[in-house]
Amino acid sequence: MRLRSVVKLYKRWSIIILVCLPFAAFLHISFGQERKIDNMFLELDKKYRLPEQWSVLPFELEDPYKRVKNGPPLVNVIYKAKVDWLSRWIANPKKVVANAKMPNLGLDFDEIQAVIVFLSSIAENDVPQVTWDEFLLKKEDDLSEDEYDKMDKVFNAGKGVWGRARCTICHPIKGVGGNVGVGPDLGEITTKINRNWLHSWLGNTKSHFPDTMMAQYRFTDQDVRWLVEFIMRDTQFVPEEKDDEASSAEPDVKILTETEFSSLRKDASLIEKGRDVVEKARCFVCHDIKGISELMPVVERKRDGLDGFEKLLYDIRCLTCHRIQDKGGTYAPNLTFAGSKIKMNWENEFLQSPDIIRPLSQQMPKFNLNENEAKAATEYIEKSLLIKESLPDIFKDAPPTAEIIAAGEKLFYEKGCNTCHAENITKGGGVVGPNLATVGDRLQSAYILYHLKNPQRANPQGVEPNFGLSDEELKLLVGFLMDHVKKKEGK
Ligand code: HEC
Ligand code: HEC
Ligand code: HEC
Ligand code: HEC
Repeated sequence: MRLRSVVKLYKRWSIIILVCLPFAAFLHISFGQERKIDNMFLELDKKYRLPEQWSVLPFELEDPYKRVKNGPPLVNVIYKAKVDWLSRWIANPKKVVANAKMPNLGLDFDEIQAVIVFLSSIAENDVPQVTWDEFLLKKEDDLSEDEYDKMDKVFNAGKGVWGRARCTICHPIKGVGGNVGVGPDLGEITTKINRNWLHSWLGNTKSHFPDTMMAQYRFTDQDVRWLVEFIMRDTQFVPEEKDDEASSAEPDVKILTETEFSSLRKDASLIEKGRDVVEKARCFVCHDIKGISELMPVVERKRDGLDGFEKLLYDIRCLTCHRIQDKGGTYAPNLTFAGSKIKMNWENEFLQSPDIIRPLSQQMPKFNLNENEAKAATEYIEKSLLIKESLPDIFKDAPPTAEIIAAGEKLFYEKGCNTCHAENITKGGGVVGPNLATVGDRLQSAYILYHLKNPQRANPQGVEPNFGLSDEELKLLVGFLMDHVKKKEGK
């Protein structure tokens, strides 16, 4: 019976194909018109993009997305997170942080209680204690008027640091933001975090989590104190108040309180039980937990003695956002060929103090790199991140003439490049693509030609159409764009 129907179906294949063909053709056309590239093709492209085109790099790049343990080490978590938070988290992570990656392990209250007591028994070092101005530790209602004003100043300074640091590139707040796709939602972080821990984390993330994907900012201690105040107080980091109906509808989950915990924390049999639960639930697959034996030996990455660009890549975690060859993220421009693309003087300045080129959702935070670090990055990129074929530079010997520039400008608007790009502050223009007002300072002339010949070759995900420009048209446009240098901005 089954077999016969399969044979019948087989015979019908020809009909099915005939019926589907026009439909497929139709679909294809609509893809073409929208100029979106289907994911499947992007996957194929990734697979078949020839690594031979890539330069041989002087060291093996570390991909932050391929870490051995995806969760943070748990050894000192008791100093980081509040007990009731831990209790709710282990019971059901996604209910506590919307974008949590940790699965619900189905533990019951007794097990959770034992796990927390066990975790507290393995803790090593408390977080370094910070001396805060006393009024900063008071609740808002308890502050005198004078204290409130002082606190408010600190808070506002912190708000400034927060805004400039663009933390929301990685972290969503109550579901909004987080375009990079890494980092927990911070919308309820005040229910979890210890103030001293937060101070210590922002100053040195790696001392808590060597494999973290979070970018390390070069904050001063002052910046960090301001930022901590802002995070500990701003309502965006506090849960929204639920109306009575919603909270009474929620089933009661039993939560371990701080008081219960302090009466249990030295209970040896509970510690033993907790260790047992942790072993059985295989928490160690995702977490480094002191004293729990691994089933498989873990190869830790050695990072002693890193220096130059390799150290910078690790420290700032450039590859959480950028991609080089087949390693890293896709949020920021791919740097694999940055050495053939970008002018190194511009890059050196940009790294120390990033400028705004692309639309709002895609800017690089200011990490305060110093001169030497910017130099190490620039030199590496210039030497190692190159397109192998040599790109022709048509304006190498003579800069573009006034005629070329004028004709290029006309063509730029005729072709509608301005629907996606602004090239001039007063004329304005689209914001889909990067601002081209100073593109002559930023990009190498040969690269602009290479890009315009076939935008998808430079960036397979790019939305810029291939205009099929003639050699003459290319020359005019490149000449026009090369003329876009800083002194002419806003002309
Ligand atoms: C499949 C992987 C996985 C398993 C198994 C797992 N976790 Fe997690 N855990 C994570 C990840 C990932 C995070 C980081 C937060 C997130 O989910 O995005 C995390 C976070 C945590 C945190 C908060 C840590 C911090 O620094 O904020 C605690 C506590 C925790 N896990 C405890 C446990 C315990 C206890 C077990 C075993 C009963 C366990 N986890 C099993 C993946 C896992
Ligand atoms: C490049 C992405 C990125 C940026 C930018 C970033 N973070 Fe993070 N942050 C992360 C990731 C990822 C984690 C979780 C640790 C991990 O998985 O590596 C994290 C963890 C945290 C935590 C601990 C949260 C918890 O529940 O454990 C806090 C607090 C935090 N970040 C604050 C900030 C602040 C404040 C800024 C801006 C100054 C910032 N982050 C910028 C990626 C980022
Ligand atoms: C939080 C994510 C993030 C991190 C971390 C990051 N960048 Fe960026 N970077 C960006 C974004 C976004 C842009 C695009 C900026 C724009 O066009 O306005 C950018 C642009 C650049 C550019 C110009 C590329 C081009 O084609 O225009 C270079 C070069 C660069 N970054 C290098 C680095 C280096 C080196 C590091 C590490 C020291 C680093 N970035 C860390 C997000 C990041
Ligand atoms: C449909 C929108 C669109 C149109 C039309 C368009 N571009 Fe673009 N262009 C983009 C986007 C998006 C990028 C950024 C690609 C990236 O981030 O790597 C880009 C990148 C560029 C770059 C390289 C900038 C860089 O930093 O990577 C140049 C130069 C450029 N376009 C010039 C032009 C010219 C000249 C035209 C007209 C002939 C044109 N574009 C038409 C969307 C467009």
